[in-house]
Amino acid sequence: MASSGGIQIPSRLPLLLTHEGVLLPGSTVRFSVDSPRNMQLVGQRLLKGTSLKSTIIGVIPNSRDPEQDTDDLPALHNIGTAGIAVQVVGSNWPKPHYTLLITGLCRFRVCSLLKERPFVLAEVEQLDKLEQYTASAAEGDAAEHGELKELSQKFYQAAVQLLGMLDMSVPVVAKFRRLLDSLPRETLPDVVASMIRTSNQEKLQVLDAISLEERFQKALPMLTRQIEGLKLLQRSRKTSPDKEKRVLSVRKGGVFPGRQFNLDGEDEDEDGDDMAALERKIHGASMPEAALRVCLKELKRLKKMPQSMPEFALTRNYLDLMVELPWNRNTKDCLDIRSARTLLDNDHYAMDKLKRRVLEYLAVRQLKSTLKGPILCFVGPPGVGKTSVGRSIARMLGREFHRIALGGVCDQSDIRGHRRTYVGSMPGRIINGLKMVGVNNPVFLLDEVDKLGKSLQGDPAAALLEVLDPEQNHSFTDHYLNVAFDLSQVLFIATANTTATIPPALLDRMEVLQVPGYTQEEKVEIAHRHLIPNQLEQHGLTPQQLHIPQDSSRDIICRYTREAGVRSLERKIGAICRAVAVKVAEGRRLPEAVSSEEVLLQEAAPPEMPIVIDHVALKDILGPPPFETEVSERLTLPGVALGLAWTPLGGEIMFVEASRMEGEGQLTLTGQLGDVMKESAHLAISWLRANAKTYRLTNIAGSSDPMEGTDIHLHFPAGAVTKDGPSAGVTIVTCLASLFSGRLVRSDVAMTGEITLRGLVLPVGGIKDKVLAAHRAGVKRVILPKRNEKDLEELPANVRADLDFVMARSLKEVLNASFDGGFPGTASAESLPELSSKL
Ligand SMILES: Nc1ncnc2c1ncn2[C@@H]1O[C@H](COP(=O)(O)OP(=O)(O)OP(=O)(O)O)[C@@H](O)[C@H]1O
Ligand SMILES: [Mg+2]
Repeated sequence: MASSGGIQIPSRLPLLLTHEGVLLPGSTVRFSVDSPRNMQLVGQRLLKGTSLKSTIIGVIPNSRDPEQDTDDLPALHNIGTAGIAVQVVGSNWPKPHYTLLITGLCRFRVCSLLKERPFVLAEVEQLDKLEQYTASAAEGDAAEHGELKELSQKFYQAAVQLLGMLDMSVPVVAKFRRLLDSLPRETLPDVVASMIRTSNQEKLQVLDAISLEERFQKALPMLTRQIEGLKLLQRSRKTSPDKEKRVLSVRKGGVFPGRQFNLDGEDEDEDGDDMAALERKIHGASMPEAALRVCLKELKRLKKMPQSMPEFALTRNYLDLMVELPWNRNTKDCLDIRSARTLLDNDHYAMDKLKRRVLEYLAVRQLKSTLKGPILCFVGPPGVGKTSVGRSIARMLGREFHRIALGGVCDQSDIRGHRRTYVGSMPGRIINGLKMVGVNNPVFLLDEVDKLGKSLQGDPAAALLEVLDPEQNHSFTDHYLNVAFDLSQVLFIATANTTATIPPALLDRMEVLQVPGYTQEEKVEIAHRHLIPNQLEQHGLTPQQLHIPQDSSRDIICRYTREAGVRSLERKIGAICRAVAVKVAEGRRLPEAVSSEEVLLQEAAPPEMPIVIDHVALKDILGPPPFETEVSERLTLPGVALGLAWTPLGGEIMFVEASRMEGEGQLTLTGQLGDVMKESAHLAISWLRANAKTYRLTNIAGSSDPMEGTDIHLHFPAGAVTKDGPSAGVTIVTCLASLFSGRLVRSDVAMTGEITLRGLVLPVGGIKDKVLAAHRAGVKRVILPKRNEKDLEELPANVRADLDFVMARSLKEVLNASFDGGFPGTASAESLPELSSKL
């Protein structure tokens, strides 16, 4: 059947040799090419050529291209298919190769090989016609071969029957159905044979059938076999209980079956196992009804989702978290109040008030486990052991401990989680913490609640309200979980440095326990009982190697640290340990060649004497002391007084300075003062001017109005720190009185108290911290408002014994106590003993 007329393929064709598949006219097949001759063909012909003709190549099936291009060609299959390369894709991995997509045009026979290198070129003879098949031609042909017409009709009907059995929703099937009528009948065997399930051998038979009749005869049995196979499948599907799965298989593998079929089946089985395991876990997690319902719903959705969908992973993660949460898992409280007290005492020295309250709290909880008690909030300066007491409480109760650091958190989803619609959504810290500890009754320490921020992402403090309210937190809803979790078993403890920045609603839910700073004596005890042994252990030293006498530790506390807590004390001790560790390590080094006997001798020798840290050693290791306790040097001029201030870091002493110059009666205030403090300064000046005559106060020139022709400048040092509050009132008055009278204030007196225009002294807060600061600074006499007398009871006995307290009702008494020999105009020295009380 030589070609006559119609489209001609070139008579010389480059040949692609393949043993992978059989290209039939009318179908498109993908070939992978990596052998040398084929690679050359692609490189030199397909990629370089520009005409349509250059993309036409001959595909010879069932012939292997030799691995080396020096090898001889094997015998080639005699019939091939001319095809157009419609796509060429190159890749270098894992080795250089091309992937070709070739659409078959017509058969050809190889007449002779023209050359073998760099690729095979052959003289060919076109076997099929390549012209538009017209109806008249078909009729003509059919008339000629009655038998052929019958065959082609039969074949066509079988093809229609096959298509009828397939699922029209698959796009390829639908397209084929549309094309079936418009395709020339003579092309049907090729097209159908390439689409139904046939082996390469069978396809080769169809290719080799050059006469049309033979081709129909070869292809028809394959088509009928496919139809029978499908019928069988459909019948078994009807009876099979596992309906859905089979339909899926028919769709996936029925038409164009391949290896995929089996692989898919295995995957599904594995998935099935996984899902069943997850389902078992969900039922086993003993969640409340509502959560279980949500989980089962999500699981149902998950089962229907393809694994490749991004939502699959999201839902899976969600379910994993739900299963892991301790819905019903808890630890048993093992609280024995007596041993709890010993434990607290062992862990922490001093803090008696705090310990008492903590024990009360725990005792009540033991008597009534369902107690919806207040949430404790420890407030105090840094390093006084708030966090570490929280940890001890968990240990006493035998509960899990989890610390949630809230400092700097400014996004409410940090507490409550993100909704699952967000990309990268996560549960909040509360739920995360529960997952980590694995029980539903841990001790949660909400550390640094005063340092919560606020931002556009919402107010985390507001989110905490629900968490901390015992009336509400049994149904805490994290945005990520979206179902309620019962937090009522969790024991929350909060810590803060100051209550000033805690939002009032949050503060209202907590019981504030003040943790004041330590006195010097307490610090010495803490250092010797806890800090030094701890540091020794951390640095691998023993008490036989390092000894810090009490005197030295007192020196570290007074002259090297100035703090309410014990953190920098701990650091300084650490520094000493490091320095000693070097000495010890140097001393230990043994000479190079020692016999084992010598080593034994050395070990048996008495231990070295411990390195004792005295004042000289302290100076060597820590350098010159940065703080001096003696305050007297600084009060050498009139116009300086010592005040006591309270800061979140504990109490502090504060020098108030004043100076005057010629001017117009103006008052300048510096040192970052708040409004209340500025008003105190105005109050002080007004009171002094009003009482100038009584106290014999004058201006520079000696006039009885101290402000006349005078400008006053008041400064509060540590200029960078913001200060506010009324408690500096008495200090300002004393400082100005000294300035206006030209007399020195006593160097060893410190004071605090609010003033009024009438000259009364009103009570202020933070007395304990302030007095401790004064004691630390070496002050001898402290002037306090009379109404603060009750606060003195909180002070340790040794501090009370060391200090001389003056409880003042009025400014007159303050002035009298601040200056040596009393103040002119105030009651004379004999009334002084009444006012000062030594506690
Ligand atoms: N009374 C004490 N007895 C023994 N050790 C103490 C005592 N007070 C504090 N410490 C030690 O001081 C160190 C600092 O304490 P902690 O971290 O609890 O301070 P904090 O009050 O939480 O400070 P911050 O407000 O800065 O968080 C810890 O190593 C702790 O063991
Ligand atoms: Mg802390």
